[in-house]
Amino acid sequence: MAGPGSYLIGEEEKKNLLEVIEAGWLYRYADASAANFKAKVLQLEQELAQYIGIKRVVAVNSGTAALFVALAALGIGPGDEVIVPGYTFIASIGSIVYSRAVPILAEIDESLTLDPQDVRKKITKRTRAIMLVHMLGNPGHIDHIRNLAREHNLQLVEDCAQAFGATYKGKSVGVYGDIGTFSFNFYKTITAGDGGAVVMNDEDLYRRAFAVHDQGHLPLRDGVEQGSRALLGLNFKMTELTAAVLLAQLKKVDALTMKLKENKGRFKDGIKDISGLTFRTLPEPQGEIGTLLTVFLPNADIARKVGDELGCGVVADSGWHVYNNMEHVLGKKVVDSVGCPFTCPYYTNNGGNVNYEIGMLPQTDSILSRAINISVGVSDAGLGSGFGISILSDNDEIDAKVEQFRKCVKKHL
Ligand SMILES: Cc1ncc(COP(=O)(O)O)c(C=O)c1O
Repeated sequence: MAGPGSYLIGEEEKKNLLEVIEAGWLYRYADASAANFKAKVLQLEQELAQYIGIKRVVAVNSGTAALFVALAALGIGPGDEVIVPGYTFIASIGSIVYSRAVPILAEIDESLTLDPQDVRKKITKRTRAIMLVHMLGNPGHIDHIRNLAREHNLQLVEDCAQAFGATYKGKSVGVYGDIGTFSFNFYKTITAGDGGAVVMNDEDLYRRAFAVHDQGHLPLRDGVEQGSRALLGLNFKMTELTAAVLLAQLKKVDALTMKLKENKGRFKDGIKDISGLTFRTLPEPQGEIGTLLTVFLPNADIARKVGDELGCGVVADSGWHVYNNMEHVLGKKVVDSVGCPFTCPYYTNNGGNVNYEIGMLPQTDSILSRAINISVGVSDAGLGSGFGISILSDNDEIDAKVEQFRKCVKKHL
């Protein structure tokens, strides 16, 4: 079971794709007046900007690329620390290391997103940014974290990969930070298999982000050079094929999240009376997209029994999302032979010294060992989920799963 958008791939996606294939121009650049150029990437950037409510969007080829581009646009690099939750997808951490900055792992709270109190404790003279990850379809503590960032003159990056369509105080996630990122991989709200976006309001950041994703070029060239390039970039461009699919998916997102929330509400109503069972706290209940329902059992032992019986394990098991299971992070396994960024003199000469150990975030460990993810619209073994329903489930199927869950929990409580 993949993400909710993957279930809705149909005629609209096919039509958009065929339009591009038949025209034969798959690259984001061309002379704008060329008849065979459908400008799908540009259109997607404009439609995403409108949907999110932000001035600028750079479409890229993955959520990981989006994070790398965002950090580079902010100028984050050697000697800098970026605070990131110990419960997130590996890409949040990897993108910081590949920016040659040092990830500082912080605790989550029962919202399963950054705990503002721990973030405050982790700020040092080397901190340049906080990466707030809106995990499992729900916004984190945006106000708290943003205030902290402002107070300490830090950049705020919102990793919204898992929360396209989620809102906070009526606005989309991604508009609150200095820069935001999204993913359109197969497990995300809407999908083209892979894809991503970087979003921001600041024009200078936009020019930098665009340049990083396209060999240093200025935004929106017609496929030809336009003046001198201010910085080196790489290539993280999206293709017309990806954009064609995403334009069709974007039209489905509101109906999709409405259905997810309805299904999640039904599941939650069906289990909320079980005493001893509690739910993830939601900093913005109205703003969630409803892809997953996370419950807490009273202790790790009971959670393990329930998770094993349901076949989904506990969230602490997730190999891609829990720092304890990231052997490459724990071992600082970087690609170069000198251990950059951890051994970088810009870092060590400024007092920097970081080690990652199993159990270093006891609050996170305790929370995740008691947590079970019930899939509502996305199921991914790597996410620590696998039991639940899908966006296509009808009420009978939901009720049957509710019954199965109730019986299992009651047996072990
Ligand atoms: C929180 C988070 N950040 C970043 C990413 C990376 O996105 P992608 O797989 O598109 O590179 C993901 C993807 O799973 C994610 O969940």
